Amino acid sequence: MPPDRKSTLKMATGKKVFIKTFGCQMNVYDSQRIGEALAQAGYAASEAMADADLIVLNTCHIREKAAEKVYSDLGRIRQVKARRRHEGKATMIAVAGCVAQAEGPEIVRRAPLVDIVVGPQSYHRLAELVARADVDRAPVVETAFPLASKFASLPPRTELGRPAAFLTVQEGCDKFCTFCVVPYTRGAEYSRPVAEIEAEARQLADNGARELTLLGQNVNAYAGMGPGGERCSLPELLRGLARIEGIERLRYTTSHPGDMSDDLIRAHGALAKLMPHLHLPFQAGSDRMLAAMQRKHTVADYLGLVDRLRAARPDIALSTDIIVGFPGETEADFAATLALTERVGFAQAYSFKYSPRPGTPASLLRQQVAEAEKNRRLQRLQALLGRQQTSFNSACVGRVLPVLFERGGQRGGQIIGRSPYLQAVHAQGHADLIGRCLDVEIVAAGPNSLTGSILDPGACGNDAVSGALC
Ligand code: SAH
Ligand code: SF4
Ligand code: F3S
Repeated sequence: MPPDRKSTLKMATGKKVFIKTFGCQMNVYDSQRIGEALAQAGYAASEAMADADLIVLNTCHIREKAAEKVYSDLGRIRQVKARRRHEGKATMIAVAGCVAQAEGPEIVRRAPLVDIVVGPQSYHRLAELVARADVDRAPVVETAFPLASKFASLPPRTELGRPAAFLTVQEGCDKFCTFCVVPYTRGAEYSRPVAEIEAEARQLADNGARELTLLGQNVNAYAGMGPGGERCSLPELLRGLARIEGIERLRYTTSHPGDMSDDLIRAHGALAKLMPHLHLPFQAGSDRMLAAMQRKHTVADYLGLVDRLRAARPDIALSTDIIVGFPGETEADFAATLALTERVGFAQAYSFKYSPRPGTPASLLRQQVAEAEKNRRLQRLQALLGRQQTSFNSACVGRVLPVLFERGGQRGGQIIGRSPYLQAVHAQGHADLIGRCLDVEIVAAGPNSLTGSILDPGACGNDAVSGALC
């Protein structure tokens, strides 16, 4: 935003904003940054929609269900807005994120109560757009892909006390898998410069972050500008971030198999702060389906990567994304997906029924799989993935794992953190221990979490998981 426009913006002192987030971790990150940008413009965060002068829905377009949720929420918000109007209070409604980008002015046509539609590359201008909608008394739609990056216009990170923080380092996608909307909603691949990322990482560390998860739609394709103007890769970026005081753990997500470089695989064996966990979607287990999806990798490529990752870091936990019922998927193709899942053995996975998305090539294919068949395949796959996850978790019982405690639990005296393998770990402990990384003896395992007991709150052992700091 040009400085003159910013300085003429009236402060929204005394106003409150409520932000609801749908979709992936990048949307969670974006919502935090939207909150920080609005705080700079005078908005205080509200926990209750009914108290908010501005309601922001940060939306996801990845599957039909995700996109439709926004419209059912808007139905409920209509009532909130009407109630507030009776009390003499105005309410602005903004739709941000990937539905905003994909549907633009169509949102206002379908839901005329919406005042602002803002795409993922323009949310730094939200306060200005709200002011414009207020003055013009007409909806504002901003979905252009601006030439300048939004990151340079966003205020510093202010949120305090979050031990594990997200940090977007790369955004957008040039891969164009035939089922996926992301290249259209997030735009072309863009990598933030190293200096900008390191500055944000230092702010997060100063605010209490001990763990950073670097985010990108294709995070391992990261190629940002280094200090001397040279291109810097993800492993180089990770090595630089590992030197920042206070940062004890690093993760990154989501990776494409085609961009797993040798240097990145080596980093899993050599960089102590890089956690032994990798999310590596494979989507389908037959080369025929992978080609139809335009994934640019084969089953053999994927298995080769898994072998090399496990050679570099034998205890690495793998998670993945899988789609069932892509157009033309036969019983034999699906059996190949089950076989690849069996062969790799995942610690955790997300599996989805294929959802045709407007504007994507796969949505035009004739041989769509019947809904009942998709359901049947998903159930079979999820049963297998559930068994793998439970068995991975059960194998941790009796081990001592370093756990970074992130928040209080629902039961009194309970705190919750993450193991190096990204499992949720519950333990009895004082809230003072939140933000610390402690050795925990794992005593029980469930399908979705572990239970443990803290060995010595005064110490933090680094030897429990070979090579890993907390
Ligand atoms: N950038 C990530 C994926 C982001 S979307 C990657 O390349 O892996 C997250 C997941 O949603 C994808 O991995 C895919 O499994 C799923 N997905 C995307 N489009 C979908 C669609 N049309 N139907 C069903 N699942 C889809
Ligand atoms: Fe979507 Fe494929 Fe890009 Fe991932 S790599 S965001 S699945 S197009
Ligand atoms: Fe959804 Fe957009 Fe993320 S479509 S998955 S919010 S990139």
